[in-house]
Amino acid sequence: MSTLHILYENDAWLPPLEEALNKLDIPYVRHFVDGGTFDLGQTPPEGIWINRMSPSSHTRGHQGGVQYVSELLGWLESHGRRVINGSQAFALELSKVKQDIALRSFDILTPRTVVVVGKERLKPSARNMELPFITKHNQGGKGLGVKLFRTLEDFDAYIDGPDFIDDPGGITLLQQYIEPAEPFITRVELVNDKFVMAIHSSTESGFELCPAVECAEDDAFCPVGDSGKFSQAKDLDEDDPLIHRYIELMAALRIDVAGIEFVTGKDGHRYTYDINGTTNYNATVEEQAGVNGMDFIAALAGRLLQKTKLENAAK
Ligand SMILES: Nc1ncnc2c1ncn2[C@@H]1O[C@H](COP(=O)(O)OP(=O)(O)O)[C@@H](O)[C@H]1O
Ligand SMILES: [Mg+2]
Repeated sequence: MSTLHILYENDAWLPPLEEALNKLDIPYVRHFVDGGTFDLGQTPPEGIWINRMSPSSHTRGHQGGVQYVSELLGWLESHGRRVINGSQAFALELSKVKQDIALRSFDILTPRTVVVVGKERLKPSARNMELPFITKHNQGGKGLGVKLFRTLEDFDAYIDGPDFIDDPGGITLLQQYIEPAEPFITRVELVNDKFVMAIHSSTESGFELCPAVECAEDDAFCPVGDSGKFSQAKDLDEDDPLIHRYIELMAALRIDVAGIEFVTGKDGHRYTYDINGTTNYNATVEEQAGVNGMDFIAALAGRLLQKTKLENAAK
């Protein structure tokens, strides 16, 4: 029997996916991952795999799962297992540097970004930034470490003070702050070449931005609970040239599922700054848009399972 194997580390994010899989009678196995073990001489279980590991796993004590899955995906793929959001997608998910490089290669505008490793290099590097600028972690998620600085004095005090939190890999980004023309950012949800919906997320109460209601309810670190913060973005659709570029990028880099974020600046340009693979869908916005994001993912899993079944039968 061909099965969908789900790699995950946050229980709270599973129910919507499970519900969508059950609707289609897709058999699945859950694999909770906060570390793990596999034998390189063995063959992985048959079936399709889906990677639901988040770059913010470390905030739930599961950074070991990130390391483990980073290696596991290569092993699965070397045996021909199809992974939804496989090794290439995951490498990108874990590095905003790689995201920026990918976006630029598709001529997608990004904010100016400087990469800094070594805390002692942060203050000198900041002297080469235009104010205001923001800091963020290379391994992002939930807006952790994203802070806005309007003066160098404030920045220096942050670096020297107790609030400084380092990226799990010690890689900090200094980034041009794009003052939003209107007080929201836009997140575009895409699954397997298809536009699912676009979301406006208010910037009025800060930078922490996981749009999943499930995350907010169960995760003490995720401060987003106010569904009033999110609404359907009706000002763009699948015919938008930026969406076309996102879809091309995803196809080229083998990303099956993504939530891509951009902010429209006062200059009218749209700056893209975040590609999320472990995307979660906000129920309020799904209702407004009349779609269920996880249905798209379940349908993709169903198609892939069918395909492997036919291939195995032909062997
Ligand atoms: N360059 C930027 N200019 C303005 N706002 C930004 C910029 N980068 C991030 N933000 C704000 O901070 C939030 C979190 O940043 P993001 O890069 O998405 O980190 P994470 O991966 O942790 O979600 C964004 O959703 C946005 O509101
Ligand atoms: Mg983000």
